[in-house]
Amino acid sequence: MAKRVAVIGAGVSGLSSIKCCLDEDLEPTCFERSDNFGGLWKFSEEPKDGMTRVYKSLVSNVSKEMSCYSDFPFREDYPNFMSHGKFWNYLQEFAEHFGLLKYIQFKTTVCSVTKCPDFSETGQWNVVTETEGKRASAVFDAVMICTGHFLSPHLPLESFPGPS
Ligand SMILES: Cc1cc2nc3c(=O)[nH]c(=O)nc-3n(C[C@H](O)[C@H](O)[C@H](O)COP(=O)(O)OP(=O)(O)OC[C@H]3O[C@@H](n4cnc5c(N)ncnc54)[C@H](O)[C@@H]3O)c2cc1C
Ligand SMILES: *[C@@H]1O[C@H](CO)[C@@H](O)[C@H](O)[C@H]1NC(C)=O
Repeated sequence: MAKRVAVIGAGVSGLSSIKCCLDEDLEPTCFERSDNFGGLWKFSEEPKDGMTRVYKSLVSNVSKEMSCYSDFPFREDYPNFMSHGKFWNYLQEFAEHFGLLKYIQFKTTVCSVTKCPDFSETGQWNVVTETEGKRASAVFDAVMICTGHFLSPHLPLESFPGPS
């Protein structure tokens, strides 16, 4: 039976993790707490869910040759340094080309990941999720954590007295 893998987060890293699981005949389930994929590249006019995202005028500072997935180059007509909107379109093209979206459960937050009681024999993990107030749990053979590291703003206010 194919090994089941939980992928937490559907940003740049989560999308490629889903694809890599499929390449290896693993069975991925991706949990994404927001209602869309692309992680912080999904622009939002209104700041929501306390998540950091790209700002309106953001242009990628990494060239398209350096920031593409190795198996999916950017289209020829994309500029070398592109706006966040074009970058998100690229992620959409990647996700659609490899049929990744059907593996993503949106509006689903992973609350905890713990070892199963029989972990020493099975190596399995228990993953607890919450979807619009409803809790569920499932057992996986492996977990890939793709939750990003820029999501929560770091405000070292105690080091800089003044701003409230
Ligand atoms: C302002 C800004 C500008 C940047 N500009 C560039 C650039 O020009 N070029 C470049 O290469 N990189 C840039 N980066 C770096 C950026 O972090 C990466 O490009 C990339 O977005 C990282 O992807 P990720 O998948 O690791 O994380 P993220 O994009 O942060 O995605 C993480 C995902 O995990 C989900 N998630 C988190 N916790 C949970 C949970 N408990 N349960 C379910 N889902 C969860 C989130 O909702 C999110 O969708 C920039 C970052 C910032 C903040
Ligand atoms: C792009 O910007 C990020 C965030 O400011 C920075 O960490 C990174 O070094 C920059 N990359 C390049 C190639 O300039």
